[in-house]
Amino acid sequence: MSNTIRSPELEISSILHGGIHHPLLRSWQANGRTLTKSMFIYPIFISDNPDAEEIISTLPGQKRWGINKLESFLGPLVKKGLKSVILFGVPMKIQKDAIGSAADSPETPVILALQLLSKLFPQLLLVIDVCLCEYTSHGHCGILSSLPNPTHSDQPTIDAQASAERVAEVAINYAKAGAHVVAPSDMMDGRIRTIKLGLMRSGLANRCAIMSYSAKFASGMYGPFRDATGNAPMFGNRKCYQLPPNGRGIARRAIRRDAAEGADILMVKPALPYLDIISDCAQIAPEYPVACYQVSGEYAMVVAGAEKGIYDLKAMAFETTEGMVRAGASIILSYFTPQFLDWLGEER
Ligand code: PBG
Ligand code: ZN
Repeated sequence: MSNTIRSPELEISSILHGGIHHPLLRSWQANGRTLTKSMFIYPIFISDNPDAEEIISTLPGQKRWGINKLESFLGPLVKKGLKSVILFGVPMKIQKDAIGSAADSPETPVILALQLLSKLFPQLLLVIDVCLCEYTSHGHCGILSSLPNPTHSDQPTIDAQASAERVAEVAINYAKAGAHVVAPSDMMDGRIRTIKLGLMRSGLANRCAIMSYSAKFASGMYGPFRDATGNAPMFGNRKCYQLPPNGRGIARRAIRRDAAEGADILMVKPALPYLDIISDCAQIAPEYPVACYQVSGEYAMVVAGAEKGIYDLKAMAFETTEGMVRAGASIILSYFTPQFLDWLGEER
């Protein structure tokens, strides 16, 4: 007896393989949402030791750079098609205080780096992270109020007004030093509006964009970054100003708020566990470019799995970032940027 199963003729709608049998046909399935070199922003850590080139043990392949090393480090990447960097300051020696005075002091390494990079690479889009945590003695991202936290005495209470004003002051000083884009990651309420007004009053609003870390979650994935920059809080955590990971609704509110307050680009961070938020952002604010940050812990996870032989590094770097683009991002902040400049130049 034969086991042949007689099926009626296949339905036209059942046939999908015809559309994916050739590499070019497969690439067209992206509907235009394809990874390109110009989507990538490369995060760079700038040390206050001008000759630094220091390995960061939890962030494989990334280093803290002194400004004397920036030309030889970035020159070859710019030649390969690097279009944008985001700078983070790493003060190892600089004195910290309650308001993060060193964030925008004239010799702080990120200000020197902005001035230098504008001269060295005039075409490179210079984005700068704006936050106080690298420069405050308490390690929090804003200015603390003297009021105790009503429910948890070990947690900070933020002074909202003072924080927004200080963050805006720092952002304006970065714009004056040559930043094309200021990217506030502090998550203080009302800072986008305060920065926008500050840029307008300084005559800088038409030459400096705001990329808001709109939906930034209190994530376990910032560990390697905190090793890299030394910005971990001295007490408590950041849960009273970064969003709770379960909060899809408050993320939508934050995205709408920052768009209304004058952001030019909206960001979701981290990226891979928050693809629904990226997709929400693209839907809520279709008139805005949507960015996402594949943060230090996500990057380290992808690298660690590849080193364990669980998967191929390049395949997983592509799969994770293509997921972000598919969800709606058109800008990706990624530690994989140098590799993508090679990979996207190759035939795939
Ligand atoms: C600080 C800041 C953080 C990151 C960017 N800016 C960490 C934090 O909030 O503690 C994380 C980036 C990464 O993990 O790659 N405001
Ligand atoms: Zn911070």
